[in-house]
Amino acid sequence: MKTSELSQHFETTFGSRPHIFRAPGRVNLIGEHTDYNDGFVMPAAVGFSTYVAIAPRPDRKLKIHSDEFSGDFEFDLDRLPEKRTGAWCDYVVGVAWVLRQQGHQLDGANLIVHGEVPIGAGLSSSAALEVSSALALLSLTPTSLPLPDVAKLCRRAENEFVGAKVGIMDQFVSCMGKAGHAFLLDCRSLEYKFVPIPAGIQLVVCNTMVKHDLATGAYNTRREECEAGARAFARWDSSIRALRDVSVELLDQHKNDVPATIWKRCSHIVRENQRTLDAARALTAGDLPEVGKLMRESHNSLRDLYEVSCRELDIMVESAQGLPGFCGGRMTGGGFGGCTINLVREENAEDFAKQIAERYRQATGINPQVYLCSAEDGAEALS
Ligand code: GLA
Repeated sequence: MKTSELSQHFETTFGSRPHIFRAPGRVNLIGEHTDYNDGFVMPAAVGFSTYVAIAPRPDRKLKIHSDEFSGDFEFDLDRLPEKRTGAWCDYVVGVAWVLRQQGHQLDGANLIVHGEVPIGAGLSSSAALEVSSALALLSLTPTSLPLPDVAKLCRRAENEFVGAKVGIMDQFVSCMGKAGHAFLLDCRSLEYKFVPIPAGIQLVVCNTMVKHDLATGAYNTRREECEAGARAFARWDSSIRALRDVSVELLDQHKNDVPATIWKRCSHIVRENQRTLDAARALTAGDLPEVGKLMRESHNSLRDLYEVSCRELDIMVESAQGLPGFCGGRMTGGGFGGCTINLVREENAEDFAKQIAERYRQATGINPQVYLCSAEDGAEALS
């Protein structure tokens, strides 16, 4: 949908001219489940975005409408729910709730949400909705917040209001992404560095079209296992605050001193952090074979040690092997379904998309969606 159409739609619905804000979804090239361990991630914002059109109302109501997601919602700003209701508007209300908690003056507003990020595909439709809503709501207040602070408040909305204990990656890259670049983020200090995607390389995202129910529960369990791991290793080195601080040497030295499952989770995180730093270096140097090797290792580790892959993701990763122009691929996002990310030479990308879809269809009987993406800019005000 064009900005002018959304604006027109808003005027017809609410009778006033809106301001429009956009925030993108993301893919993660490498560094999976490392963000909540104070580690490193390397995502990129992609060309699917959520748009929020907003204009003030004279009362204290927040009215939220979307054509794609069902239900019209109305809230009193002075009596916002304290936690999730289970509807998609939780992500908008959660942001309003955090803004109120942080003492921002919010007045009544009408909002129309237009979402283009595939839902439940692991491409961060929720972060895109949070960030676009935050920019929209903030635009009606006297304060302007730096984008990293917007990312933090959106994460807080998801952690405390929606109840998903996610890390900072999705909200941060949705705010700070840069066209043509991946983004190496230190999730402890929030320092970051843009890493150019080599010329002629396309990001091909393959949607398995499955999302297994265990996603949320298993995510929170993995977090707890990591925290247990960090506590265990802190017995041997009191400076350890998170798995980010555990070295490969310490990890291997204590293989038999921690429960086997916990050790496997720790082993994934400790090595994935190193792989992410190595991949950033290799991508900068244009060393695609090395990047491909690291992505493959990352996938295997997520499958065997962290145990967050699934049959469909594994089949999609295998289906890419040997196709012309394929440089590297792995599952992306939280896991248990969703998408794989593939680096593919531009001239081969369309054929790659057709062939991988065919291989996957034959192996699973499921029709996948394949998106040819590039790295795009992060969130912005459009009008
Ligand atoms: C989800 C979370 C992120 C991150 C990934 C796994 O996308 O929102 O914070 O933990 O899973 O890397």
